[in-house]
Amino acid sequence: MDRIRIVGGRPLHGAIPISGAKNAALPLMIAGLLTEETLILDNVPRLADVAQLQRILGNHGVDILVPGKKKGATVDDGQTLHISAAKIIDTTAPYELVSKMRASFWVVAPLVARMGEAKVSMPGGCAIGTRPVDLLIMALEQLGATIEIEGGYVIARAKNGLKGGEVVFPKVTVGGTHTALMAAALANGTSVIENAAREPEIVDVADCLNKMGAKITGAGTSRIVVEGVPRLKGARHSVLPDRIETGTYAMAVAMTGGDVMLQGARPELLQAALDVLVKSGAQVSVTNEGIRVSRNGGGLAPVDVTTAPFPEFPTDLQAQLMALMTRARGTSHITETIFENRFMHVQELARLGAQIRLEGQTALIEGVEKLKGAPVMATDLRASVSLVIAALAAEGETMVNRVYHLDRGFERLEDKLGRCGADVSRISG
Ligand code: EPU
Repeated sequence: MDRIRIVGGRPLHGAIPISGAKNAALPLMIAGLLTEETLILDNVPRLADVAQLQRILGNHGVDILVPGKKKGATVDDGQTLHISAAKIIDTTAPYELVSKMRASFWVVAPLVARMGEAKVSMPGGCAIGTRPVDLLIMALEQLGATIEIEGGYVIARAKNGLKGGEVVFPKVTVGGTHTALMAAALANGTSVIENAAREPEIVDVADCLNKMGAKITGAGTSRIVVEGVPRLKGARHSVLPDRIETGTYAMAVAMTGGDVMLQGARPELLQAALDVLVKSGAQVSVTNEGIRVSRNGGGLAPVDVTTAPFPEFPTDLQAQLMALMTRARGTSHITETIFENRFMHVQELARLGAQIRLEGQTALIEGVEKLKGAPVMATDLRASVSLVIAALAAEGETMVNRVYHLDRGFERLEDKLGRCGADVSRISG
């Protein structure tokens, strides 16, 4: 398995192109199942999770064409996928495929909406918590599906098609909202989704579905109304920039000092995180090119942050902020409210010399003068990248093991950081 070697202590200077968002690209690819026409997605990031979903969709009979390089294109341009689900030949998503990536469970909605049936393996737990699918199942039932759970599979049926209905989520769920949206798009009648997730990736998927002929209003608010249509058509859509990648590199710059332009980044996608960075002592400015982040000289101030659904501070940046706060002058408090077990990075950061204490769902981070390199590893991609951030400021060499997790969510990480002056290299094997 590949490893990443980092020698810390160098400030970052230059530009980092921001890729398309993983968490929008995945549901957008799944939305391709809703139509027999071709859905063209631009700005798709080259990530292990995208490749895995290509395999899963392939198993349902979906053809995915990736055109060759165009004149003038560079490695920084995202890829284009032509997704054609003209014929769905298999409505089962087997355990072997779904267990590798939770989001693949979401195929259940377009499959039952278009084909009247779907048999999808339960995704099971994962490194960051139990992550049940009860609310996704509830949404499908509210829209007229009958659900059976058998042998670890969720079997959803709607022989005469789904029906419009009211889906009221007792808690905000991104996957639940994607599921309800895709199912309601092809349901007979109007659906209302209450307490919907407001994440930008939901808006991006709703925009794409509307281009495909869906009738969705209110995406980005907590009440989404979907007027079902009998069929959807092909469309072309460009994936929005990755706000978590943006926030991650912004924190890396705040950690090392320096000055970096995050090209193509959009501030409204992560305002809460940018506000926290400014409080901690970084400078953030917005230009036509993207978001410029710098920190020169001054130390880092501690912060108190609680994760919550959008537009609050995202759980997917919690580990990265914790890495940053290991060097602050004073004690920071970071409370995780979305996942019950998303603190695996704590003991790994401790290997680098961080002082962190857990009190229930809150981490108390006592800033230290310096971190020192060490071998580390993590079993979740955001935790892994938090170790990279810490390593960039640590004295000496850090070896980040199990790079597979980074490749799931960060495109050419070593290249993007290396171009800004970091000493980062990938060691194969
Ligand atoms: N939940 C339930 N029942 C359900 C569904 C969710 O109790 O049926 C709970 C979860 O256990 C969690 C909370 O609701 O406590 C929120 O979970 P949500 O459904 O919003 O998460 P998700 O859709 O599974 C997506 C992202 C995650 C991100 C979360 C929260 C994708 C592919 N995944 O997961 O991203 O952390 O929303 O914003 O979009 C990552 O990219 O590293 C990642 C984990």
